[in-house]
Amino acid sequence: MIKTYKLSKKEVENEIKSAKDLKELDQIFNKYLGKKGEITLILKSLKDIPKENRAKVGKETNFLKNFIEREIKEKKEKMRFVGVSADEAGWIDITIPGKKPTIGHLHPLTQTRRKFEEIFQSMGFSVIEGPEIENEWYNFEALNIPAHHPARSTFCLSLCRTFYLKGGNLLRSHTSSVQIRYMEKHHPPLRIIVPGRVFRNEATDAKHEFNLYQIEGLMVDKSISIANFKSILREFLDRFFQKPVKMRLRPSYFPFTEPSFEVDVECVVCNGKGCPTCLRSGWLEMMGAGMVHPNVFKNVGLDPKDWTGFAFGMGMDRFAMLKYKINDIRFFYSGDLRFLRQF
Ligand code: PHE
Repeated sequence: MIKTYKLSKKEVENEIKSAKDLKELDQIFNKYLGKKGEITLILKSLKDIPKENRAKVGKETNFLKNFIEREIKEKKEKMRFVGVSADEAGWIDITIPGKKPTIGHLHPLTQTRRKFEEIFQSMGFSVIEGPEIENEWYNFEALNIPAHHPARSTFCLSLCRTFYLKGGNLLRSHTSSVQIRYMEKHHPPLRIIVPGRVFRNEATDAKHEFNLYQIEGLMVDKSISIANFKSILREFLDRFFQKPVKMRLRPSYFPFTEPSFEVDVECVVCNGKGCPTCLRSGWLEMMGAGMVHPNVFKNVGLDPKDWTGFAFGMGMDRFAMLKYKINDIRFFYSGDLRFLRQF
Protein backbone atom coordinates (compact mmCIF):
# COMPACT_ATOMS: atom_id res chain seq x y z
CA MET A 1 0.00 0.00 0.00
CA ILE A 2 2.79 2.33 0.87
CA LYS A 3 4.46 1.98 -2.46
CA THR A 4 1.67 3.92 -4.20
CA TYR A 5 3.14 7.17 -2.92
CA LYS A 6 5.83 6.65 -5.46
CA LEU A 7 3.43 8.05 -8.03
CA SER A 8 5.42 9.96 -10.56
CA LYS A 9 4.59 13.57 -11.27
CA LYS A 10 5.95 13.22 -14.79
CA GLU A 11 3.67 10.27 -15.52
CA VAL A 12 0.56 12.08 -14.37
CA GLU A 13 1.57 15.17 -16.25
CA ASN A 14 1.90 13.21 -19.51
CA GLU A 15 -1.40 11.52 -18.91
CA ILE A 16 -3.13 14.87 -18.53
CA LYS A 17 -1.34 16.28 -21.55
CA SER A 18 -2.49 13.49 -23.82
CA ALA A 19 -6.13 13.60 -22.69
CA LYS A 20 -8.21 14.38 -25.76
CA ASP A 21 -11.46 15.53 -24.25
CA LEU A 22 -13.23 16.49 -21.09
CA LYS A 23 -14.36 12.93 -20.54
CA GLU A 24 -10.80 11.64 -20.46
CA LEU A 25 -9.83 14.44 -18.12
CA ASP A 26 -12.63 13.47 -15.79
CA GLN A 27 -11.42 9.88 -15.88
CA ILE A 28 -7.93 10.99 -14.90
CA PHE A 29 -9.35 13.12 -12.13
CA ASN A 30 -11.28 10.16 -10.77
CA LYS A 31 -8.35 7.84 -11.09
CA TYR A 32 -6.28 9.99 -8.73
CA LEU A 33 -8.59 12.25 -6.82
CA GLY A 34 -11.97 10.51 -6.93
CA LYS A 35 -13.43 8.80 -3.87
CA LYS A 36 -11.34 5.72 -4.53
CA GLY A 37 -8.60 7.58 -6.37
CA GLU A 38 -5.00 6.67 -5.74
CA ILE A 39 -4.13 9.94 -4.08
CA THR A 40 -7.26 9.95 -1.99
CA LEU A 41 -6.37 6.50 -0.73
CA ILE A 42 -2.83 7.49 0.16
CA LEU A 43 -4.08 10.51 2.07
CA LYS A 44 -6.63 8.35 3.88
CA SER A 45 -3.96 5.83 4.88
CA LEU A 46 -1.35 8.32 6.07
CA LYS A 47 -1.92 7.16 9.63
CA ASP A 48 -0.68 3.67 8.72
CA ILE A 49 2.58 4.95 7.39
CA PRO A 50 5.58 4.69 9.66
CA LYS A 51 5.99 7.87 11.60
CA GLU A 52 9.37 8.76 10.17
CA ASN A 53 7.99 8.73 6.61
CA ARG A 54 4.58 10.16 7.29
CA ALA A 55 5.36 13.88 6.99
CA LYS A 56 7.36 13.39 3.83
CA VAL A 57 4.73 11.22 2.16
CA GLY A 58 1.96 13.60 3.26
CA LYS A 59 3.80 16.57 1.86
CA GLU A 60 4.59 14.92 -1.47
CA THR A 61 1.10 13.56 -1.90
CA ASN A 62 -0.52 16.89 -1.15
CA PHE A 63 1.82 18.51 -3.60
CA LEU A 64 0.80 15.99 -6.23
CA LYS A 65 -2.87 16.48 -5.42
CA ASN A 66 -2.62 20.25 -5.93
CA PHE A 67 -0.58 19.73 -9.04
CA ILE A 68 -3.16 17.41 -10.64
CA GLU A 69 -6.06 19.67 -9.71
CA ARG A 70 -4.32 22.67 -11.23
CA GLU A 71 -3.25 20.90 -14.42
CA ILE A 72 -6.70 19.50 -15.06
CA LYS A 73 -8.32 22.85 -14.47
CA GLU A 74 -5.95 24.60 -16.84
CA LYS A 75 -6.40 21.99 -19.52
CA LYS A 76 -10.18 22.29 -19.23
CA GLU A 77 -9.93 26.03 -19.71
CA LYS A 78 -7.79 25.55 -22.79
CA MET A 79 -10.24 23.04 -24.25
CA ARG A 80 -13.01 25.54 -23.89
CA PHE A 81 -11.12 27.99 -26.04
CA VAL A 82 -10.20 25.53 -28.75
CA GLY A 83 -13.87 24.91 -29.30
CA VAL A 84 -14.78 21.71 -27.48
CA SER A 85 -18.39 22.59 -26.96
CA ALA A 86 -19.93 22.05 -23.58
CA ASP A 87 -22.66 20.07 -25.27
CA GLU A 88 -20.24 17.64 -26.89
CA ALA A 89 -18.56 17.03 -23.60
CA GLY A 90 -21.87 16.75 -21.79
CA TRP A 91 -20.62 19.41 -19.46
CA ILE A 92 -21.84 22.94 -18.89
CA ASP A 93 -19.78 25.66 -17.31
CA ILE A 94 -22.32 27.91 -15.66
CA THR A 95 -19.60 30.40 -14.78
CA ILE A 96 -19.04 31.45 -18.41
CA PRO A 97 -20.38 34.99 -18.85
CA GLY A 98 -23.62 35.02 -20.86
CA LYS A 99 -23.88 36.37 -24.37
CA LYS A 100 -24.93 40.02 -24.24
CA PRO A 101 -28.04 40.48 -26.38
CA THR A 102 -27.80 43.60 -28.54
CA ILE A 103 -30.40 46.06 -27.41
CA GLY A 104 -31.78 48.28 -30.15
CA HIS A 105 -32.67 51.93 -29.83
CA LEU A 106 -34.97 54.44 -31.44
CA HIS A 107 -34.31 55.79 -34.91
CA PRO A 108 -32.89 59.35 -34.82
CA LEU A 109 -36.05 60.63 -36.51
CA THR A 110 -38.20 59.01 -33.84
CA GLN A 111 -36.01 60.52 -31.15
CA THR A 112 -36.45 63.91 -32.83
CA ARG A 113 -40.21 63.50 -33.08
CA ARG A 114 -40.43 62.59 -29.41
CA LYS A 115 -38.42 65.67 -28.49
CA PHE A 116 -40.76 67.89 -30.54
CA GLU A 117 -43.76 66.29 -28.87
CA GLU A 118 -42.33 66.64 -25.39
CA ILE A 119 -41.60 70.34 -25.84
CA PHE A 120 -44.92 71.24 -27.45
CA GLN A 121 -46.95 69.12 -25.05
CA SER A 122 -45.39 71.00 -22.16
CA MET A 123 -46.80 74.17 -23.74
CA GLY A 124 -50.32 72.75 -23.93
CA PHE A 125 -50.31 71.36 -27.48
CA SER A 126 -51.96 68.00 -28.22
CA VAL A 127 -50.33 65.56 -30.60
CA ILE A 128 -52.68 64.69 -33.47
CA GLU A 129 -52.34 62.36 -36.43
CA GLY A 130 -53.96 62.33 -39.83
CA PRO A 131 -54.10 60.02 -42.84
CA GLU A 132 -51.22 59.76 -45.31
CA ILE A 133 -53.63 59.12 -48.16
CA GLU A 134 -55.59 62.30 -48.70
CA ASN A 135 -58.00 63.77 -51.20
CA GLU A 136 -57.64 67.07 -52.99
CA TRP A 137 -60.06 68.83 -50.68
CA TYR A 138 -57.93 68.38 -47.56
CA ASN A 139 -54.53 68.65 -49.23
CA PHE A 140 -55.39 71.65 -51.44
CA GLU A 141 -58.86 73.11 -51.75
CA ALA A 142 -59.85 73.58 -48.12
CA LEU A 143 -56.45 75.19 -47.64
CA ASN A 144 -57.40 77.89 -50.09
CA ILE A 145 -55.55 76.28 -52.99
CA PRO A 146 -58.25 75.74 -55.63
CA ALA A 147 -57.54 73.63 -58.71
CA HIS A 148 -55.68 75.63 -61.37
CA HIS A 149 -54.68 78.22 -58.77
CA PRO A 150 -51.09 79.28 -59.45
CA ALA A 151 -50.21 78.25 -55.90
CA ARG A 152 -50.55 74.63 -56.91
CA SER A 153 -47.48 75.09 -58.98
CA THR A 154 -45.41 76.66 -56.20
CA PHE A 155 -42.56 74.63 -54.82
CA CYS A 156 -43.84 72.00 -52.44
CA LEU A 157 -47.49 71.96 -53.29
CA SER A 158 -47.12 71.66 -56.98
CA LEU A 159 -49.20 69.18 -58.90
CA CYS A 160 -46.19 67.66 -60.56
CA ARG A 161 -44.62 67.05 -57.16
CA THR A 162 -47.66 65.31 -55.77
CA PHE A 163 -48.06 61.55 -56.01
CA TYR A 164 -51.57 60.85 -57.25
CA LEU A 165 -53.23 57.50 -56.70
CA LYS A 166 -55.65 55.76 -59.00
CA GLY A 167 -59.12 57.12 -58.33
CA GLY A 168 -58.04 60.69 -57.61
CA ASN A 169 -56.67 60.40 -54.08
CA LEU A 170 -53.10 61.43 -53.38
CA LEU A 171 -50.28 60.99 -50.90
CA ARG A 172 -50.35 64.12 -48.76
CA SER A 173 -47.65 66.60 -49.74
CA HIS A 174 -47.80 68.34 -46.37
CA THR A 175 -49.35 67.90 -42.95
CA SER A 176 -51.44 71.08 -43.35
CA SER A 177 -54.33 68.84 -44.42
CA VAL A 178 -54.74 67.87 -40.77
CA GLN A 179 -55.45 71.52 -39.83
CA ILE A 180 -58.69 71.15 -41.76
CA ARG A 181 -59.53 67.68 -40.49
CA TYR A 182 -59.02 68.76 -36.90
CA MET A 183 -60.90 72.06 -37.10
CA GLU A 184 -63.87 70.32 -38.74
CA LYS A 185 -64.32 68.23 -35.62
CA HIS A 186 -62.98 70.43 -32.80
CA HIS A 187 -64.04 73.88 -31.83
CA PRO A 188 -61.41 76.44 -30.81
CA PRO A 189 -59.61 77.33 -28.62
CA LEU A 190 -57.16 74.71 -29.79
CA ARG A 191 -53.47 73.95 -29.87
CA ILE A 192 -52.19 70.99 -31.83
CA ILE A 193 -49.07 69.66 -33.43
CA VAL A 194 -49.23 67.06 -36.18
CA PRO A 195 -46.14 64.98 -36.76
CA GLY A 196 -46.30 62.84 -39.86
CA ARG A 197 -44.93 61.51 -43.07
CA VAL A 198 -45.39 63.51 -46.26
CA PHE A 199 -44.57 62.64 -49.86
CA ARG A 200 -43.11 64.64 -52.71
CA ASN A 201 -42.08 63.58 -56.15
CA GLU A 202 -38.47 64.70 -55.86
CA ALA A 203 -35.24 63.69 -57.47
CA THR A 204 -33.32 62.66 -54.37
CA ASP A 205 -30.08 64.29 -53.31
CA ALA A 206 -28.35 65.18 -50.04
CA LYS A 207 -31.17 67.58 -49.13
CA HIS A 208 -34.22 66.02 -50.77
CA GLU A 209 -36.09 62.79 -50.31
CA PHE A 210 -39.39 61.71 -51.81
CA ASN A 211 -40.75 61.29 -48.35
CA LEU A 212 -39.95 63.18 -45.20
CA TYR A 213 -41.43 63.90 -41.83
CA GLN A 214 -43.11 67.19 -41.02
CA ILE A 215 -44.52 68.74 -37.93
CA GLU A 216 -47.50 70.97 -38.41
CA GLY A 217 -48.54 73.37 -35.68
CA LEU A 218 -51.85 75.15 -35.21
CA MET A 219 -53.06 77.42 -32.47
CA VAL A 220 -56.46 79.08 -32.68
CA ASP A 221 -58.07 81.30 -30.07
CA LYS A 222 -59.44 84.80 -29.56
CA SER A 223 -56.93 87.49 -30.54
CA ILE A 224 -53.88 85.36 -31.23
CA SER A 225 -51.08 87.36 -32.78
CA ILE A 226 -47.67 86.90 -34.36
CA ALA A 227 -46.21 87.77 -30.97
CA ASN A 228 -47.73 84.57 -29.56
CA PHE A 229 -46.24 82.60 -32.42
CA LYS A 230 -42.82 84.10 -31.88
CA SER A 231 -42.75 83.38 -28.18
CA ILE A 232 -43.86 79.77 -28.64
CA LEU A 233 -41.26 79.30 -31.35
CA ARG A 234 -38.54 80.94 -29.30
CA GLU A 235 -39.22 78.54 -26.43
CA PHE A 236 -39.26 75.57 -28.79
CA LEU A 237 -36.01 76.44 -30.59
CA ASP A 238 -34.07 77.12 -27.40
CA ARG A 239 -35.21 73.86 -25.89
CA PHE A 240 -34.67 71.79 -29.00
CA PHE A 241 -31.14 72.99 -29.69
CA GLN A 242 -30.40 73.37 -25.96
CA LYS A 243 -28.92 76.79 -26.49
CA PRO A 244 -30.33 80.20 -27.32
CA VAL A 245 -30.66 80.46 -31.11
CA LYS A 246 -31.45 83.59 -33.09
CA MET A 247 -34.40 83.53 -35.48
CA ARG A 248 -35.90 85.89 -38.00
CA LEU A 249 -39.16 86.05 -39.92
CA ARG A 250 -39.13 86.83 -43.63
CA PRO A 251 -42.27 87.66 -45.60
CA SER A 252 -43.37 84.75 -47.75
CA TYR A 253 -46.45 83.35 -49.42
CA PHE A 254 -48.69 80.44 -48.57
CA PRO A 255 -52.30 80.37 -49.76
CA PHE A 256 -53.56 79.22 -46.36
CA THR A 257 -51.89 81.90 -44.22
CA GLU A 258 -52.01 85.66 -44.36
CA PRO A 259 -49.59 87.20 -43.65
CA SER A 260 -47.16 84.38 -44.36
CA PHE A 261 -43.53 84.11 -43.47
CA GLU A 262 -40.53 81.93 -43.64
CA VAL A 263 -38.70 81.36 -40.35
CA ASP A 264 -34.92 81.38 -40.51
CA VAL A 265 -32.71 80.24 -37.68
CA GLU A 266 -29.18 81.44 -37.22
CA CYS A 267 -26.99 78.61 -38.49
CA VAL A 268 -26.40 76.34 -35.52
CA VAL A 269 -23.36 74.78 -37.18
CA CYS A 270 -21.29 77.98 -37.56
CA ASN A 271 -23.26 80.26 -35.18
CA GLY A 272 -24.05 82.64 -38.00
CA LYS A 273 -20.53 83.06 -39.29
CA GLY A 274 -21.25 81.38 -42.63
CA CYS A 275 -20.41 77.78 -43.56
CA PRO A 276 -21.26 75.22 -46.26
CA THR A 277 -24.40 74.10 -44.38
CA CYS A 278 -25.95 77.58 -44.52
CA LEU A 279 -24.43 78.32 -47.95
CA ARG A 280 -22.33 81.00 -46.24
CA SER A 281 -25.41 83.10 -45.43
CA GLY A 282 -25.35 82.46 -41.67
CA TRP A 283 -29.08 81.62 -41.74
CA LEU A 284 -31.06 78.44 -42.31
CA GLU A 285 -34.59 78.33 -43.61
CA MET A 286 -36.41 76.14 -41.11
CA MET A 287 -40.16 76.45 -41.61
CA GLY A 288 -43.11 78.05 -43.28
CA ALA A 289 -45.66 79.80 -41.12
CA GLY A 290 -48.29 82.49 -40.92
CA MET A 291 -51.62 83.62 -39.55
CA VAL A 292 -54.49 81.31 -40.53
CA HIS A 293 -56.19 82.66 -43.67
CA PRO A 294 -59.85 83.73 -43.24
CA ASN A 295 -60.85 81.39 -46.09
CA VAL A 296 -59.45 78.43 -44.16
CA PHE A 297 -61.66 79.32 -41.19
CA LYS A 298 -64.64 79.67 -43.51
CA ASN A 299 -63.95 76.26 -45.05
CA VAL A 300 -64.28 74.57 -41.66
CA GLY A 301 -67.34 76.60 -40.68
CA LEU A 302 -65.66 79.06 -38.32
CA ASP A 303 -66.24 82.81 -38.47
CA PRO A 304 -62.91 84.59 -39.13
CA LYS A 305 -64.25 87.59 -37.21
CA ASP A 306 -64.34 85.48 -34.06
CA TRP A 307 -61.12 83.56 -34.34
CA THR A 308 -57.46 84.13 -35.09
CA GLY A 309 -54.57 81.72 -35.11
CA PHE A 310 -51.21 80.83 -36.43
CA ALA A 311 -49.95 77.76 -38.25
CA PHE A 312 -46.50 76.51 -39.06
CA GLY A 313 -44.95 73.55 -40.79
CA MET A 314 -41.41 72.31 -40.50
CA GLY A 315 -39.38 69.33 -41.63
CA MET A 316 -38.30 67.10 -38.79
CA ASP A 317 -35.54 65.63 -40.96
CA ARG A 318 -34.05 69.10 -41.30
CA PHE A 319 -34.05 69.64 -37.54
CA ALA A 320 -32.57 66.20 -36.91
CA MET A 321 -29.86 66.84 -39.49
CA LEU A 322 -28.85 70.06 -37.80
CA LYS A 323 -29.01 68.73 -34.30
CA TYR A 324 -26.93 65.66 -35.06
CA LYS A 325 -24.84 67.31 -37.80
CA ILE A 326 -25.90 64.89 -40.55
CA ASN A 327 -25.05 66.04 -44.04
CA ASP A 328 -27.25 63.76 -46.14
CA ILE A 329 -30.99 63.23 -45.60
CA ARG A 330 -30.82 59.85 -47.35
CA PHE A 331 -28.99 58.32 -44.39
CA PHE A 332 -32.25 58.34 -42.42
CA TYR A 333 -33.87 55.96 -44.85
CA SER A 334 -30.87 53.84 -45.79
CA GLY A 335 -31.28 51.31 -42.98
CA ASP A 336 -27.49 51.35 -42.68
CA LEU A 337 -26.61 50.12 -39.20
CA ARG A 338 -23.23 51.87 -39.26
CA PHE A 339 -25.18 55.13 -39.43
CA LEU A 340 -27.95 54.19 -37.03
CA ARG A 341 -25.72 52.83 -34.29
CA GLN A 342 -24.32 56.31 -33.69
CA PHE A 343 -27.47 57.62 -32.04
N1 PHE B 1 -47.42 73.32 -45.53
C1 PHE B 1 -46.32 74.20 -45.81
C2 PHE B 1 -45.21 73.38 -46.52
O1 PHE B 1 -45.31 72.19 -46.58
C3 PHE B 1 -45.74 74.78 -44.54
C4 PHE B 1 -46.69 75.66 -43.79
C5 PHE B 1 -47.50 75.15 -42.79
C6 PHE B 1 -46.77 77.01 -44.08
C7 PHE B 1 -48.38 75.98 -42.10
C8 PHE B 1 -47.61 77.84 -43.39
C9 PHE B 1 -48.39 77.31 -42.41
O2 PHE B 1 -44.28 73.93 -47.01
